[in-house]
Amino acid sequence: MATPHIAADRGDIAPKVLLPGDPKRADRIAATFLDDARVVSDVRGIRAWTGSHQGTPMSVMASGMGIPSASIYATELFRFFGVERICRVGTCGGISPKVKVRDVVIGAAAHTNSSIATIYVPDVTLSLTASFDMLRGAVDAARQGDAAVHVGPVYSSDFFYLGRSDVIEGLEKVGTLAVEMEAAALYTCAALEGGEALTVLTVSDHLKDGAGDMSAEERETSFGNALRIAAAALMA
Ligand code: HPA
Repeated sequence: MATPHIAADRGDIAPKVLLPGDPKRADRIAATFLDDARVVSDVRGIRAWTGSHQGTPMSVMASGMGIPSASIYATELFRFFGVERICRVGTCGGISPKVKVRDVVIGAAAHTNSSIATIYVPDVTLSLTASFDMLRGAVDAARQGDAAVHVGPVYSSDFFYLGRSDVIEGLEKVGTLAVEMEAAALYTCAALEGGEALTVLTVSDHLKDGAGDMSAEERETSFGNALRIAAAALMA
């Protein structure tokens, strides 16, 4: 059964889904990380692929950029395709001085300036949190590797070009590790749909220390650590 944004049958998508932001990255993950991957949907340039990883059925598709786009795909995957776990694999901008370019950030929770945190329950700002079991799986996998990995809250911003250093200063003071644009959507949709979600990010740039930013090409190729951790979280 097709939905407005995914032209697949229910069984075509695996219960475990890797969700990068960029459609090209999804294609690359399908080619290099999944076995026997086949295209199961191709709508608006967002291909969904299903194959397996280490014998476990796994799909990969892109979320696009930002909370509205990610919330559409997350909702349709959980609600209509029997998806149980989604792990976002993406990039982020460092906020904390502890976080360096190329490190991995695991988003235990997501702060946001999006109305998605307040729209569902009157007068309440929801705490948007990752799946505990996926988080534990990710941390266990991270400890087995040698990548620098940080676990904590990220900031899901509605604006890439916010230009508000006061907001970033405040977020740093409360221990926020990094900024990205989709985790809050994923955690909210998982909560609403009864699914599980996690976000594993590679630090591609740093808001307070521009030195060592990654090029677009590097962003696409050098996030193997995050991908390994994300797959372990899906399989935990
Ligand atoms: N802001 C938002 N999202 C991002 C950034 C950023 O600086 N870097 C990578 N993803």
